[in-house]
Amino acid sequence: MHRSRLTGKEVMLKGKKIVLGITGSIAAYKAAYLCRALIKKGAEVQVVMTPAAKEFITPVTLSALTQKPVVSEFFTANDGTWHSHVDLGLWADLMLIAPATAATIGKMANGIADNMLITTYLSMKAPVFVAPAMDLDMLAHPSTQHNLEKLRAYGNHIIEPATGHLASNLEGKGRMEEPDTIVTIVGATLAVAHNDNVAHNDHVAHDDNVAHNDKTLAKKKILLTAGPTYEKIDPVRFIGNFSSGKMGFALAETCAERGAEVVLIAGPVHLQAIHPNIRRIDVTSAEEMYHEAVKYFPKMDAAILCAAVADYQPAHYAAGKLKRQPGKSLTVELKPNPDIAAALGQMKTNKQTLIGFALETDKEWTNAREKLTRKNLDFIVLNSLNDEGAGFQGDTNKVSIIAANGTSETFPLKSKKEVAEDIVTRVL
Ligand code: PMT
Repeated sequence: MHRSRLTGKEVMLKGKKIVLGITGSIAAYKAAYLCRALIKKGAEVQVVMTPAAKEFITPVTLSALTQKPVVSEFFTANDGTWHSHVDLGLWADLMLIAPATAATIGKMANGIADNMLITTYLSMKAPVFVAPAMDLDMLAHPSTQHNLEKLRAYGNHIIEPATGHLASNLEGKGRMEEPDTIVTIVGATLAVAHNDNVAHNDHVAHDDNVAHNDKTLAKKKILLTAGPTYEKIDPVRFIGNFSSGKMGFALAETCAERGAEVVLIAGPVHLQAIHPNIRRIDVTSAEEMYHEAVKYFPKMDAAILCAAVADYQPAHYAAGKLKRQPGKSLTVELKPNPDIAAALGQMKTNKQTLIGFALETDKEWTNAREKLTRKNLDFIVLNSLNDEGAGFQGDTNKVSIIAANGTSETFPLKSKKEVAEDIVTRVL
């Protein structure tokens, strides 16, 4: 039986009817590009704007791009035509709200239907994607986080905002994700849903779909740590490392593709988790990562600890920026961080599997085996900075997997995604 390859996000967006909700954020200017990118993939786009969004981008631009009048008010002022949010809710194959301000997220979470966008959202029968955009403190505020949590619980897909320069001139997390990445995430989520339906309706898998139909981790819950940790010295400086998060994110995607529910605790990285089964929790420091890891681990079947966690943090945080003292050296006293792997090793039950990583520069196997035992791990994945193409930042890695029972297997240099496949196949 022939079935076309379903990995292409273009395939998933072609012919899809999309309601694009735009709200009053400076990131609204990116909505024009987003609109165009969706149309280029073959989607039909209907824009719904909040009144505040019109302060940032004009309806004329968007109606010209979509070749449809923009919907914004309940009635057309001059002839009293009523715009039916119910019809839009039935028409759409998906709704994407990008950018979504804190106000709109709050209204969505609490059913405050005071504009056309919210009434459309409340009437929506199709999957809803939300791409928040706001200042870092607004995003971090417990009420915003609580509202986002509510939206997740209602089944909406939250496209995590990126970290970078914000309109407020501050640096931090809150930038709307780039339009191309949003399109990729939406396409990938639709592809996953489509493949799940195909697998559900038809157990005869075509070769092209084998990777997607390997659901050996269905119903499993897996905790991942990824990326570096930053240990703050003062408001502008930190101790960190070169981890990009690529290895950990590849593992998270692989586990999710195989059906697992993944909790991904990520240090500060510039990556986006694509698969809808990945619940991402962003942290900055080792202590924050530790608290999240011990909170989630008891509910998990396995944990893979790929993060490059700082072993030490400054003993004293300087509330003001440390000043340069000409001719004088500066000593920063460090105190140990909690060892997350060792803590989970202590908590581990005999139903749970715990996998650590070892990044070594010398006596690789001896050090890795020592960590395996001391942290009470079931497996340790050894990568060495002496192997070209292995370790931090790059798209490749070369690993050996050492089991607690003494067996081991060494793999050649591969892409991090392939390495993730090998690890998951071998240990889970
Ligand atoms: O992120 P990339 O750029 O893709 O790079 C990938 C990687 C090189 C970071 C990854 O492959 C890797 O090796 N991760 C572990 C790096 C590391 O910190 O290794 P370690 O030998 O210092 O730590 C051993 C284990 O204990 C690790 O599982 C680590 O997550 C864990 N640990 C370490 C210290 C600490 N305080 N708590 C921990 O849980």
